[in-house]
Amino acid sequence: MALLKPFSDSKGRITFDLVRKEIKQVEKQISEQVKAFDSEVEPFIDYICNTSGKRIRPALAILAGGSLGKISDDNLKIGVISELIHMATLVHDDIIDEADTRRKTPTPNAKWGNGMAVLLGDALFSHALLLATEFGCIDICRKVGTASREVCQGEVIQTQRRFDLSLTKEEYFRIIAMKTGALFAASAGISASLSGADADTEAKVYDYGLKLGTAFQIYDDCLDLVGTEDNVGKTLRTDLEKGKLTLPLLNLLETAPAATKKQLQKNIKDQKPLEFEGLVGDVAYKASIESALDTAIDMLDEARDNLNCLPANDYTTGLLEITNYLEGLIAKCRS
Ligand code: IPE
Ligand code: IPE
Ligand code: MG
Ligand code: MG
Repeated sequence: MALLKPFSDSKGRITFDLVRKEIKQVEKQISEQVKAFDSEVEPFIDYICNTSGKRIRPALAILAGGSLGKISDDNLKIGVISELIHMATLVHDDIIDEADTRRKTPTPNAKWGNGMAVLLGDALFSHALLLATEFGCIDICRKVGTASREVCQGEVIQTQRRFDLSLTKEEYFRIIAMKTGALFAASAGISASLSGADADTEAKVYDYGLKLGTAFQIYDDCLDLVGTEDNVGKTLRTDLEKGKLTLPLLNLLETAPAATKKQLQKNIKDQKPLEFEGLVGDVAYKASIESALDTAIDMLDEARDNLNCLPANDYTTGLLEITNYLEGLIAKCRS
């Protein structure tokens, strides 16, 4: 039986059986952190934090800790810090993408405008960094700071390269490894080190998170094209509109016949909404998505290879099952 059977709590948050108790503790700690903000700011932060996110990053911190020993408060704290950083990036990302819905609720930018959303994202980011100082360990602060900077830099490069037809797949992979992979990696890697992992094991757990996060972003980029807002609970179809050249689109540009490619490029440059299916045909459109999902599957295999260094126990199996969970989401995306 799968140890990590996903389940949904009363708020509709998807999490996993094995770490149910610890995720509940993470939720409690996030609520406590919300109370640390100024009373005038707290309701805004509470609105952002008290939502239905899947809490994948805390789950990684808990599982990585458990795989190497007893799950401690330190592992939970890394989970809380990663989720706070994640939520800060989402608040900022939704401004850039002009998205009005996230986790089935109106985004901060939709509710209070861009100015407030920038500041609330900043407040969340700063709080996460402040919380990291509670470890009293410069090395952890450095790793948390590096991961936050990496996520921000990924978003900066992506924004700077919007509508840039010279973007290569290698550059795309670098951007998504930064904007999404880095935080998955830090959450798992730092937690492993807190549980006594040696440098080699920490590096492998970090790399597991990096590959898992990168695969997750490729899946999300396909979902942006084929998902429905009702099911996913967030604003979709913004990638093309905002000039983000994601893997399915890069696949299409690579494989389209010359005339179609020219038309695709012109539409992108003119910032015209692309009617993909009409322009390239249903078969080529679907193939570009299938191929991107195949790439995500390959990356999941690479992620799994890293787990061989961990002791065999339920939590290590849990880390493996997170990759299977994503594989299940990818299969759904194909149907
Ligand atoms: C959304 O992340 C942003 C991406 C990195 C694709 P999640 O899918 O983990 O978002 P929540 O936390 O469950 O809302
Ligand atoms: C992920 O990119 C955002 C961050 C890692 C900050 P997306 O723009 O694809 O995320 P969603 O689709 O809005 O959740
Ligand atoms: Mg977005
Ligand atoms: Mg997306």
